[in-house]
Amino acid sequence: MNYKLEPIAPKTYVGNLIFLLGDEVAERALPLSKKEVDLLKERRAAKLDCIVRFDRLPYYIYVVSFNSEKPASECHEQLRRSAADLLSLLKADKIAMAGITGEGIIPEEMMAFVEGLTLADYTFDRYKTADEYHLGSATIDDRFFSADEFESNQRLWNRIMWCREWVNTPVQDLNAARFADELASIAADLGVSCTVFDKRQIESLRMGGLLAVNRGSVDEPRFVALEYKPAEPVNDKPLVLVGKGIMYDTGGLNIKPDDYMQEMKSDMAGAATMASVLFAAADNALPVHVVALLPMTDNRPGANAYAADDILTMYDGTTVEVVNTDAEGRLILADAIAYAAKNYNPGLIVDAATLTGAAVRAISTFGIAAMQQNAAGPYNLLSIVGEQVYERLVQFPFWSEYDELIKSEVADVKNCGTAQAGTITAGKFLARFAKDVPYIHLDIAGVAYFSKKQHYYAVGASGYGIRLLYAFMQTYDILNK
Ligand code: BES
Ligand code: ZN
Ligand code: ZN
Repeated sequence: MNYKLEPIAPKTYVGNLIFLLGDEVAERALPLSKKEVDLLKERRAAKLDCIVRFDRLPYYIYVVSFNSEKPASECHEQLRRSAADLLSLLKADKIAMAGITGEGIIPEEMMAFVEGLTLADYTFDRYKTADEYHLGSATIDDRFFSADEFESNQRLWNRIMWCREWVNTPVQDLNAARFADELASIAADLGVSCTVFDKRQIESLRMGGLLAVNRGSVDEPRFVALEYKPAEPVNDKPLVLVGKGIMYDTGGLNIKPDDYMQEMKSDMAGAATMASVLFAAADNALPVHVVALLPMTDNRPGANAYAADDILTMYDGTTVEVVNTDAEGRLILADAIAYAAKNYNPGLIVDAATLTGAAVRAISTFGIAAMQQNAAGPYNLLSIVGEQVYERLVQFPFWSEYDELIKSEVADVKNCGTAQAGTITAGKFLARFAKDVPYIHLDIAGVAYFSKKQHYYAVGASGYGIRLLYAFMQTYDILNK
């Protein structure tokens, strides 16, 4: 989508007009007849959040009314959602261009609306031979924000689109080696440092988890380390982001039955998210020293596949009994988390992973199942910004009793417990590899990929979590004073 910032005078504007209405001023601000104003009033009386369309053939005026009295985060989310609803109307009306302005609306609200519009306009077109509908271009009234402000948000949204594209791309076209190459080339363009470890190097690092999961695959694994270090960071110790990069999860020898395998191209969403967050920080020169560690492989049942009962030695020497080869994400993440703790002296480790089906069963697709160890302060901040950007966290307990559930008879720990508290035992498994480094675990299984359209998220990859972690980095100085 192309945006321009220009003045817009609603009464004389020639073209399709999108008008955001936060209070009762429509009659004054818009060229509406008495009858039209009455209709708008009626619709607003029934529900303040509504969209009313007026014919000005060959153009339309779309009045997007919203309740500006709600708390900011709800109001912003409503605007994002209204933008998505509006886009469906625009699509039905085959609108390719429009102007956007409003009354009774503050810049943050306008930004939220445009954010929703931008995010909703994405579709995964790469394999379509026919053209899909997109709102081609929009002119936004320039009284709401400066070009700089707008462009930095646009760069963030672009990162979300890239993330979605990666996650939506099937493994046939995006295996670990290719994904690593793409990341390296973006990093080079941005001046971000990027180290790609290939299989031999991963062997010499002795990352037993990553290597075990990779054994059933014909494709090589990769371990990618990205580092963005601005001149004067607010943090002395880096923020280390770890992302699950399972390029495809068949389950391995514990193969996924029936339709459980479908959508498992999305099992690298954690890695795509964390890379995108780091790139967004670099794009917009955020003053935060951040590292992203991305272990990548697919999980397949090839002839040499790792098996239940195998005992692995991880990067930090911990031994792990494999109980189920479908609990593979935690194995590759454990190596990466241990690698972070040993080599980066992190101020905080945050991981994002499509880790457990149990997280989806617990809270559905409405938020992130989150846990923390030694990180109550950062967790609170993350949780607050999560409410603000509406990418929300639900905190799960990390009581020591849960450690008992993954004790092994034959090794230090096993890779899964019983059917109970599967999301927590997965988190607990990972937390031991962070040692005493403050650690936050984000299980994004419910939100990384949607099987049904949800407002401004199309079917497929969402990029959920990028706005969250970006907003977290924007406020990161609070933790480092
Ligand atoms: N990638 C899956 C988790 C998942 C399931 C993500 C559904 C998104 C949607 C993960 O590797 C997995 O298979 N987890 C198992 C763990 C179990 C074997 C302990 C699960 O959740 O069933
Ligand atoms: Zn799995
Ligand atoms: Zn998985």
